[in-house]
Amino acid sequence: MSLQSGARRALRQALVSTRPHLHHHQTPKRISPSPLPSAKYFTTSPRFLKDEETSGKEGQYARTDHTIQVSYPGPSSSQLPPTDNLVKGIGHGGVPTLPTFSLQGKVGVVTGGARGLGLVMGQGMVISGADLAIVDLNKEEASKQAQLIVETFKRDNPTAARLPKITTHYADVSSPESVVSCIRDIVAAHGKIDSLVTSAGFTENFEAVSYPFDRVQKLWGVNVDGTWLFATEIAKHLIERKAKGSMVFIGSMSGAIVNVPQPQAPYNAAKAAVRHMAASLAVEWAKYGVRVNVISPGYMLTALTQKILDDNPDLKEKWTSLIPQGKMGKPEDLMGPVTFLLSDASSYVTGADLRVDGGYTCT
Ligand SMILES: NC(=O)c1ccc[n+]([C@@H]2O[C@H](COP(=O)([O-])OP(=O)(O)OC[C@H]3O[C@@H](n4cnc5c(N)ncnc54)[C@H](O)[C@@H]3O)[C@@H](O)[C@H]2O)c1
Repeated sequence: MSLQSGARRALRQALVSTRPHLHHHQTPKRISPSPLPSAKYFTTSPRFLKDEETSGKEGQYARTDHTIQVSYPGPSSSQLPPTDNLVKGIGHGGVPTLPTFSLQGKVGVVTGGARGLGLVMGQGMVISGADLAIVDLNKEEASKQAQLIVETFKRDNPTAARLPKITTHYADVSSPESVVSCIRDIVAAHGKIDSLVTSAGFTENFEAVSYPFDRVQKLWGVNVDGTWLFATEIAKHLIERKAKGSMVFIGSMSGAIVNVPQPQAPYNAAKAAVRHMAASLAVEWAKYGVRVNVISPGYMLTALTQKILDDNPDLKEKWTSLIPQGKMGKPEDLMGPVTFLLSDASSYVTGADLRVDGGYTCT
C-alpha cells in the first residue's frame, strides 16, 4: 500500500467514524452548522420539505437534508476578495505583462455568478478588461454583487476612462426556454457575447442505493444540461457572427477522482460528463474558432465552506492533509486560470482540463 493510499484510508476511517448513524426511518434533526457538518454532508436518510417551504433559501439545491439550513455568512460585501494585490499595475502600466492576457473589448457571461466561485471569476474577468453578464437564479444577489464589483473597480482605477458594463440576468440553466430567453437579453444589453464560464452547479451526498431519482435528475439537469444548453446556444450566436470565442466549463476534480468518504456518484459522473463534453465540443467547434476548456477545481474555500470548516478545525485538518500544497484553494485562485483560458494568450489551447487543486489529483 502506498503512503498516499494509506493516508486516504486513514482519512476515510476518521471521517466515517464522525458520521452520525441515522436509520432510514428516523427523521433527521435540525442541526446547526456546528459542530456536525458531516451530518449535513453524509446523511443518507433525508426528509424533504415541500418546495414552497425551501424555495429561495440559501443552498436549497445543494442540501441533502432540507431541514438543515446553513446561511451564507456575512454581508454581500464580504464575498469579494481584496483586490489590492491584483490591480497593481493593471491599467496603470506599472507591471509589464503579455497584452494577450487582456480581455479588453470582450463580453463574458458567467452562469452561477451571484456568489461563490462564479462571482469571483466574474470579478477577475472584469479586472482583466471584460464587460460581464452575470446569470443566476438569484438575480437580486447578482445585482448587489455587480454593483460592488463596479464600486471596487472605480476605487482601484480612479483614472479609468471607462467603467466596465456589468448586467445581471435571471436564468434557470437547466431550462431550455429560460436559457434561450436569457441569452437573448444578454445580446440585447451588450450587442454580443465572446466568452462563457459555466459555474452554476451544486453537489449533494446520498449513497447511490438510496439516492432519490428525481434528485439525480435535478443534479444532472443543472450541472450537465445547464452546461450543454448555455454552450450550444452561445456557440450558435458565435457561429452566426463568424466570431471567435472561448468557453470555460467549471468541472471538478471529482470528474477525475472519487472523493472520500462522502458518497456523491451522480455529481462525480456529472463532472466527468462536463469534462468530456468540453473535449468533444472543442473538436467539433475548432473549425469555427470556438475554444472549449475545463477548469477542475479541488476543495475550494468559499464563504460557506469557510464557515463550516472554521467551526470544525479537525475536519479541515483532515481534508487538507490530502492536498500536497497543504491548504484548500481560494476562489481568487481561479481568477488567473479563467483569464488565461478566455484570453488570446491561450489561443492554441482547446479541449484541455486545467486542474486547480493544489496537486490533489496527482496523488
Ligand atoms: N466550492 C468548491 O469547493 C468546488 C470545487 C469543485 C468544483 N466546484 C464547482 O464550481 C461551481 C460553483 O460552485 P460554488 O462552490 O461557487 O457554488 P455556490 O453554491 O456558492 O454558487 C453556485 C451559484 O449557482 C447558482 N445556481 C444554482 N443552480 C442554478 C440554476 N439552476 N440556474 C442558475 N443558477 C444556478 C446559485 O444560485 C449560486 O449563486 C459548481 O459547478 C461546483 O460544482 C466547486
